[in-house]
Amino acid sequence: MSFPSVLAADAVAIQQRLDGALAGLADQPVIHAMRYAVQGGKRLRGFLVLEGARMLGAGDGRALSAAAAVEALHAYSLIHDDLPCMDDDDLRRGLPTVHVKWDEAVAVLAGDALQTLAFELLTDPVLGDAGVRLALVSGLARASGARGMVLGQALDIAAETAPAPLTLQQITALQAGKTGALIGFSAEAGAIVAGADPAPLRAYADAMGLAFQIWDDVLDVTGDAAKTGKRVGKDAGAGKATFVSLLGLDGARARAGELVAQAESALSPYGAAAANLIAAARFAISRES
Ligand code: IPE
Ligand code: IPE
Ligand code: MG
Ligand code: MG
Ligand code: MG
Repeated sequence: MSFPSVLAADAVAIQQRLDGALAGLADQPVIHAMRYAVQGGKRLRGFLVLEGARMLGAGDGRALSAAAAVEALHAYSLIHDDLPCMDDDDLRRGLPTVHVKWDEAVAVLAGDALQTLAFELLTDPVLGDAGVRLALVSGLARASGARGMVLGQALDIAAETAPAPLTLQQITALQAGKTGALIGFSAEAGAIVAGADPAPLRAYADAMGLAFQIWDDVLDVTGDAAKTGKRVGKDAGAGKATFVSLLGLDGARARAGELVAQAESALSPYGAAAANLIAAARFAISRES
């Protein structure tokens, strides 16, 4: 199957797993907001979990709860990223953001509960024995918190009011946290479920994740809301530190291309079996949304 078909099929399976996890809960705005926030999206992180598992011999759906977990964690990060105290955005995945559709309290709490749901999903016995599940829980915790996504988000917000522009090294560290850490965990998770060495997938994701965020920053300049499903043209005005702010559009595109070449060579141990992951890296820097 081609990469777009696999991505689409994985998206359906992940949505079903999330729907199941969110079924039978209280009839409350916070629960409705959780269901709303896990709809849509490209599901690239969930795909990385499932494709890594497939490539390494765990293609029987065993990794599905881990794929749903990273997408729940990601949905939480987007709800909070869009809050007025963060990026103050009113459009996400083509729809009003959670705090606009409900209110800020619902958005904070729906994000909180999606975060804890992610860890609950990682306790699913289908994922493997207790050691496997512990490795997944600790990997996601490290990727999401004070060493990973939250740290990166804090650096991103601080950069808006920094007295001087960030250096390339500082921007790289910021992006590695806010976006790279969760993408890195997503790529490793399939290997953890399969009981395989996650190192090549980690090297792939380190390069691919940075390229992915650079392209997000490029789309903020070149994209449009109808295609991206979110407001564009905001980063410069907000004083965001990005590869585009430092290197310009052409420089950022060139860097993203180099990173995708690096990501591809990290997968050379797997030969043709890595075709879909290579296609995903190319998609990361050609997508329009
Ligand atoms: C958006 O992520 C936030 C970033 C880290 C750049 P995605 O571009 O993966 O968003 P969805 O999940 O497809 O909506
Ligand atoms: C968001 O980065 C990263 C996380 C949600 C952790 P951005 O702020 O650039 O993402 P968008 O552009 O709002 O999707
Ligand atoms: Mg942000
Ligand atoms: Mg944002
Ligand atoms: Mg962005």
